[in-house]
Amino acid sequence: MSFQRNPETALLLVGAERLELPIVASNGRYQGIDVSKVREATGHVLVDPGAGNVSICAPSEITYLDGQEGILQYRGYRIEELANHSTFLETAYLLIYGELPTHAELQRFETAIAAAPGLPALATDSFLRSFGAAGHPMAVLQSAIAWLETQRPVLRQAESLEMEPVFFDLLRNVPALVASWYAFRTRGEWVEFDPTDGYAKGLLQAFFPDASHPQIFADVLETCLVVHADHEQNCSTNTCRSIGSAQASLYASVAGAVGALSGPLHGGANEAVVAMLEDLLASGMTVADKLAEVKSGEARLSGVGHRVYKNSDPRAERLKQLCPEVLRAAGNDSQLLDIAHQLENAVREDEYFRRRKLYPNVDFYSGILYKAMGIPVEFFTPMFAIGRLPGWIAHWVEGREKKTRIYRPFQIYDGQSERPYVPIDART
Ligand code: ACO
Repeated sequence: MSFQRNPETALLLVGAERLELPIVASNGRYQGIDVSKVREATGHVLVDPGAGNVSICAPSEITYLDGQEGILQYRGYRIEELANHSTFLETAYLLIYGELPTHAELQRFETAIAAAPGLPALATDSFLRSFGAAGHPMAVLQSAIAWLETQRPVLRQAESLEMEPVFFDLLRNVPALVASWYAFRTRGEWVEFDPTDGYAKGLLQAFFPDASHPQIFADVLETCLVVHADHEQNCSTNTCRSIGSAQASLYASVAGAVGALSGPLHGGANEAVVAMLEDLLASGMTVADKLAEVKSGEARLSGVGHRVYKNSDPRAERLKQLCPEVLRAAGNDSQLLDIAHQLENAVREDEYFRRRKLYPNVDFYSGILYKAMGIPVEFFTPMFAIGRLPGWIAHWVEGREKKTRIYRPFQIYDGQSERPYVPIDART
């Protein structure tokens, strides 16, 4: 790790033990206290369920997030500016290489992705056939990324400095695998992904080759991908870094990250939000009844709350602004959006949510947009995965470059104390 030390120190008193801890500098809101010697010096470990107070990786230079102020920056650039002015691949380049690309750099990057080998024809068919038709796209995607590695025996050996072909492979074929699973389920075929006319446009074409979508769909989908592209040490990125810390391949690390993202407390929330809003409409339950149910502890409000944002999530604000135009272009009524607005207003006024600083997060409005574009609900979280891919790549590379120590948190044991073994015939 390479932290810069501050002149100040923190003092930890454990019984008679007095330990001076270095304070390490950062550019952001929080300074760090280096506790890496606490166990050795005091025989105690630090307990922090959910790791909300610890930074377990070397200082990261990728994304800055200030949850109090609602600020999100990739490599120093505000998410609002990137969402308004940058394409997804420009943003991916920024995250992975650290700088916004020039025209020439962007062209080389885009061309390399478009020219990366596609899915292997025969193997893809039999691979997709091996899943039951009901297979959730996130489960298929997680398996498919691990499978993709088996199709690239040379690339899997690559070390971080020679990793570009792997970045290109994933950036071309993760969308291809997602769209192929949709095509396979609906039409019995798999599809290639061609990003030449734009990443989001290519994605919509791969999903719906016969439909002509209004340009606004591709533009908004591009924005959705940009705002999802990174979010520092969230659950899936932390999983990716953790797997990478064992020096496992980028394919293995991204496959693991997809598994983490599928959970309803993480990326799976976009699917849960639409289910919740549709359920509200269908059941005739009022917003007040829904809040009462949540406050009684029976359920959580999907798309609300965030470990870091305690005021507003700038990604949610941006996606919310885009909803009316997309619904108009789709010719959809605004029932879902209306109920979402009612729910948000109620949450913002309710003491329970205010006290706990719970506000809509990025997943609250993304599902409404995807649904209006015709993307099936089960494919909402895979859209998130496609967007988050550059972030996972950037963090995996950073972990390698900074020679991350293998992630291995300590455990406090509170189970049975030692007891004599009981042979099976003597057990009651
Ligand atoms: N609805 C109702 N109450 C909630 C919600 C919610 N969505 N989220 C948190 N709370 C309550 C908790 O019950 C707890 O109350 P208590 O103090 O009375 O026990 C308090 O707020 C703090 O909750 P934690 O679980 O400690 O918060 P944490 O930071 O661990 O969890 C999380 C963050 C997982 C996002 C949580 O807010 C949640 O479950 N939200 C709904 C799922 C969701 O939208 N996930 C997507 C997150 S964004 C992303 O991953 C892209």
